[in-house]
Amino acid sequence: MIPLGALVLCWAAGKSLAEPMPVIKNSDTIEEYLSRYGISVEEHFVHTDDGYILRAFRLPRPSSPVVLLQHGILASAWCWLVNTVDKSLAILLWQMGYDVWLPNSRGNTFSRNHTTLKPFLNKEFWNFTFDEMATFDVVANVRYVLNVSSQQKLTFIGWSQGTTQMFIAAQAQHKEYLDMHVNLFVALSPVSYLKHQTSTLLAVAKDFRLGQILEYAFPYDVFTWSELPTIGSLLCKVTFGKLCTLTIDVVCGSSPHDSEKAIANLAAHFPAGTSVKDFDHYEQFLISDRFGRFDYGRAENVKHYGVPDPPSYNVSAIGMPLALFRGSADTLADPLDVHHLSNDLKDNENVVFSKEYAGYSHVTWMVGVDDEWILDLKNLLEVFNPIMPRIIV
Ligand SMILES: *[C@@H]1O[C@H](CO)[C@@H](O)[C@H](O)[C@H]1NC(C)=O
Ligand SMILES: *[C@@H]1O[C@H](CO)[C@@H](O)[C@H](O)[C@H]1NC(C)=O
Ligand SMILES: *[C@@H]1O[C@H](CO)[C@@H](O)[C@H](O)[C@H]1NC(C)=O
Ligand SMILES: *[C@@H]1O[C@H](CO)[C@@H](O)[C@H](O)[C@H]1NC(C)=O
Repeated sequence: MIPLGALVLCWAAGKSLAEPMPVIKNSDTIEEYLSRYGISVEEHFVHTDDGYILRAFRLPRPSSPVVLLQHGILASAWCWLVNTVDKSLAILLWQMGYDVWLPNSRGNTFSRNHTTLKPFLNKEFWNFTFDEMATFDVVANVRYVLNVSSQQKLTFIGWSQGTTQMFIAAQAQHKEYLDMHVNLFVALSPVSYLKHQTSTLLAVAKDFRLGQILEYAFPYDVFTWSELPTIGSLLCKVTFGKLCTLTIDVVCGSSPHDSEKAIANLAAHFPAGTSVKDFDHYEQFLISDRFGRFDYGRAENVKHYGVPDPPSYNVSAIGMPLALFRGSADTLADPLDVHHLSNDLKDNENVVFSKEYAGYSHVTWMVGVDDEWILDLKNLLEVFNPIMPRIIV
């Protein structure tokens, strides 16, 4: 029998070992923030084939196995850093011995750069959705990272729109390259079909055709932190008061598995901006139960695609090992929509892992208090992208 005293001691030790929750302010930079943990970040500029220049951060461990963490819509590289060190994926993986890369999607606050277009002068800069992120950014990032790190393969961990990007990229023109060079695709809150999502923002967007209204009000980017007061009052007006503050809760909900303090840290650099068209493209999936290319309307679709209906993406043929991490309380990647996706993948032998976590929200991967999913992720990495034993001289 274990004496009570020992139990109390264990409990006290467990308490004192708990990692402190950092406090992240909007004025903090990633470089300054990570220096607190003794990590000196590298900054890289990745050029895409269509001229965008994306900023990526690297928590360097030269010659080590590589992981690339792709953030979601309205987010940035910050999202992997906002929790305690044992639950902030970027820091955790770096401490485990991985070479960690954090790209930023075109149009967010870190990636407003192009070889010829000026984001604040040229509307064409904002003419993109996750379709272009998939077609251009994913392969540019993977190529760049493998080139600089001199590695053959990497693990791609995407969250939300980060998963949408890879689902599309993995069946598009660079499929063969990606199948060869991605040793594991981890999809946290896989987002494809959206018919059943219940996020307040997207639900209101659907009811009010918000995309069109936003395009009129904000022809360029949308939802940047600095514009929040303006956007807040606009949303408030057009939704007759339904949506008067734009918070994490409104965008994707949270759950009791999430830490309030970590959510506040995430909110310090959220939303980080995207194009109106990106938002509009998702909005199209709320109305019809499809996962496909941008719908320009029948006549324009003929010009773009040669057919009146926009082509669907075909996720069933994914050719890289795929792990699906799903939250039962995820209002954006709703279990019914994820079920639709799983059904498309049901005959695909590359699905190596699929698990629903009870009570997890869309943001639990960033701000959660549990480590159940982290243990599962570590086990997968041990199989698909192990840290090689170091040679000590
Ligand atoms: C744009 O990209 C270039 C590298 O190609 C970099 O030197 C420059 O600092 C970037 N500008 C911004 C605003 O990110
Ligand atoms: C936006 O991009 C599409 C192709 O992706 C192109 O057909 C269209 O003309 C572009 N629109 C503008 C305003 O540049
Ligand atoms: C790979 O890196 C070399 C320099 O190390 C550079 O010259 C080359 O352009 C890079 N290729 C890509 C695709 O980034
Ligand atoms: C999707 O890809 C799978 C596997 O390559 C193929 O069997 C199927 O016919 C494709 N579906 C469509 C609608 O193109």
